[in-house]
Amino acid sequence: MVKICCIGAGYVGGPTMAVIALKCPSVEVVVVDISVPRITAWNSDQLPIYEPGLEDVVKQCRGRNLFFSTDVEQHVFEADIIFVSVNTPTKTRGLGAGKAADLTYWESAARMIADVVKSDKIVVEKSTVPVKTAEAIEKILTHNSKGINFQILSNPEFLAEGTAIQDLLKPDRVLIGGRETPEGQKAIQVLKDVYAQWVPEDRIITTNLWSAELSKLAANAFLAQRISSVNAMSALCEATGADVSQVSHAVGKDTRIGPKFLNASVGFGGSCFQKDILNLVYICECNGLTEVANYWKQVIDINDYQKNRFVNRVVSSMFNTVSGKKIAILGFAFKKDTGDTRETPAIDVCKGLLGDKARLSIYDPQVSEDQIQRDLTMKKFDWDHPLHLQPTSPTSVKQVSVVWDAYEATKDAHGVCILTEWDEFKTLDYQRIYNNMQKPAFVFDGRNIVNVDKLREIGFIVYSIGKPLDPWLKDMPAVA
Ligand code: NAD
Ligand code: UGA
Repeated sequence: MVKICCIGAGYVGGPTMAVIALKCPSVEVVVVDISVPRITAWNSDQLPIYEPGLEDVVKQCRGRNLFFSTDVEQHVFEADIIFVSVNTPTKTRGLGAGKAADLTYWESAARMIADVVKSDKIVVEKSTVPVKTAEAIEKILTHNSKGINFQILSNPEFLAEGTAIQDLLKPDRVLIGGRETPEGQKAIQVLKDVYAQWVPEDRIITTNLWSAELSKLAANAFLAQRISSVNAMSALCEATGADVSQVSHAVGKDTRIGPKFLNASVGFGGSCFQKDILNLVYICECNGLTEVANYWKQVIDINDYQKNRFVNRVVSSMFNTVSGKKIAILGFAFKKDTGDTRETPAIDVCKGLLGDKARLSIYDPQVSEDQIQRDLTMKKFDWDHPLHLQPTSPTSVKQVSVVWDAYEATKDAHGVCILTEWDEFKTLDYQRIYNNMQKPAFVFDGRNIVNVDKLREIGFIVYSIGKPLDPWLKDMPAVA
């Protein structure tokens, strides 16, 4: 029986290994982590992450050929294939601070592997890493190998949160990079045989190590670039009276461009887009490619511009001050169908409004008060470390209350900001909300999910990203 051990039981390690276990009953899969609460949660009825379909897959396999454990060394020792899916945060200090990937967790995992194993292993990079990480890891392993043979493979993950299980069951592609030596090719084949148990052969792409590593950064950069492109257009739409949804639809009909990933928004969030682009920018700079670095940096700059622009719209519409006013925030997660708040645009929007002294009442169906308070007090990039190593803040933000109902959040509010596209926000009783709000009542839709005409009929003043402006907003400046 092939034994797989995955180091890192997070958003990637957990779901990915659960699907491998589901599809490969003859493979034993153990997911290990240094975080005791995480592993306890994986072994309980309350999984540590919310992902549609995940619970069902875990329940089918857990205790059969899927196990979660904190006994990292034992399971690494026993495995044939070791996946490494640990955090790769942005460095906050020293060389490359604010851009380069911090490989501390990766390096410590590699050193531990070298320490404990006694037989040949295939080590698979699952985390997103800078190009040439495999080479660095290979050096750590071989210099400490005691004659053991290690083959390093790069197998980046392309799942998106909220659709992780579907993405894993039917991936657009599985990418495996390895050395172009006979041993490297043999290792690729071993991993290919695992995926081939449910992924059609023509969707399993094999490359050299560096191409696989760079393809992951490139894919995220291209995806984020699409959003920044459409968001840049949204500003122009507001200035000219065009409607960004109509523009996206018309542009996306071109089969060379395609219709997906063209929704204008308050900005992209999530744990990886910004981090991976900063990392790409750093790699370009290190290679002397200043123009290329600047080109990709713009994707982030537009994203920051979009979030600032949104805050400015809110403040300028409400007589240029939100001081002491109650603003309802509907949605805090970085997208719908996940409880994940890493780099969510809601953090920057809330901080912007708090900076103008607003009182916030926040509702998200999947995010707890504790998480929201942590996010609003944590320093940039601190979130991307194992839970027990994250600095804790002794204070909470007093002007913020977190409630468990959209109607409660909007009661007596002056304005409503929709920051996540949860389906339930489309079907709220907006007449009831309007009746219970201060007047004039404002809705700022950062996800283009409400029916603008209907809301205006009710009496709301409505701002919707990239849509023709409400007459109220026409003369209000919103330049970031
Ligand atoms: P995560 O923070 O949810 O999980 C990482 C886990 O690794 C944590 O539970 C942490 O405790 C554990 N860990 C860290 N060091 C360890 C060690 N030495 N030994 C054992 N466990 C250790 O992160 P994630 O979202 O799963 O991301 C993991 C990697 O995958 C990152 O490189 C990320 O960029 C990449 N990625 C993430 C996504 C996504 O959707 N979240 C998608 C594709 C790729
Ligand atoms: C993204 C990629 O889609 C995955 O392929 C990749 O594996 C992953 O990053 C990663 O490396 O971590 P994810 O961040 O989970 O996945 O979610 P996305 O669906 O890509 O959304 C990212 C952000 O962009 C969200 O805030 C979302 O609301 C926003 N978005 C997305 C838009 O604003 N407009 C769109 O049209 C699409």
